[in-house]
Amino acid sequence: MALSEKPKPPRHIAIIMDGNGRWAKQRGLPRTAGHAAGAEAFRRIANYCRTLGVEYLTVYAFSTENWKRSADEVAGIMKLLRRYLEEALRDMEKNRVRFCFFGDLSKLSPDLQALCDRAQKQSEDYDVQVNFCLNYGGRDEIVQAARRFARDVADGNRQPEELTEELLSTYLYSADVPDPELIIRPSGEKRTSNFLLWQSAYSEYVFMNVLWPDFSSADLDAAIEEYHRRNRRFGGV
Ligand code: FPP
Repeated sequence: MALSEKPKPPRHIAIIMDGNGRWAKQRGLPRTAGHAAGAEAFRRIANYCRTLGVEYLTVYAFSTENWKRSADEVAGIMKLLRRYLEEALRDMEKNRVRFCFFGDLSKLSPDLQALCDRAQKQSEDYDVQVNFCLNYGGRDEIVQAARRFARDVADGNRQPEELTEELLSTYLYSADVPDPELIIRPSGEKRTSNFLLWQSAYSEYVFMNVLWPDFSSADLDAAIEEYHRRNRRFGGV
């Protein structure tokens, strides 16, 4: 289908990049090879989202629970992120993508934190936005937000009664980002796994059987078509 004939994509798509380990196992490769193929899939899909006109893409790159994996696997994922951000900083003016990071970055290595910081600062004037969830957990995000609001109350800058859904949203990592209309989870798993718990209240979930490293632009088209078949009522009739 020509680009002009495709249905308008959602403004914000979020993806749980799942299935890297199984993809590697099927090929007799180490899990880190699966993550490397997953990073390639991310490059492919991020470019395709840009072509389609998606304004925000949020990806689950490393969860608060992923530290439980072997030191080798964690180091492998961090190395891929480092390589990607170095490349992104080099190609910043060509790609014009705005980078944002959701999660507690203080637990990452200082060099990776510095790369995230540079990528965020140097891209803040661009429009198309990629949000990397790094050391991210949806529950942790809400706890951090509640703690910061409580701090503002203790400092006399806020009253407890002022707290509304809108105000709490401004304390989240996603402040200023519209909620995702579509959340895609490949690999056949049907769980939310602590991803965007607050922001997904009215998101459409599309679960797909393809493993993330194999995820293609045709799979993204299929997920968007499925999203358009859904009848979004937001609790109304
Ligand atoms: C889940 O698959 C995937 C992760 C925990 C890591 C995702 C990280 C990447 C795709 C690389 C990040 C780099 C860039 C540039 C985005 P899994 O390992 O749980 O797969 P499995 O369920 O098959 O074991």
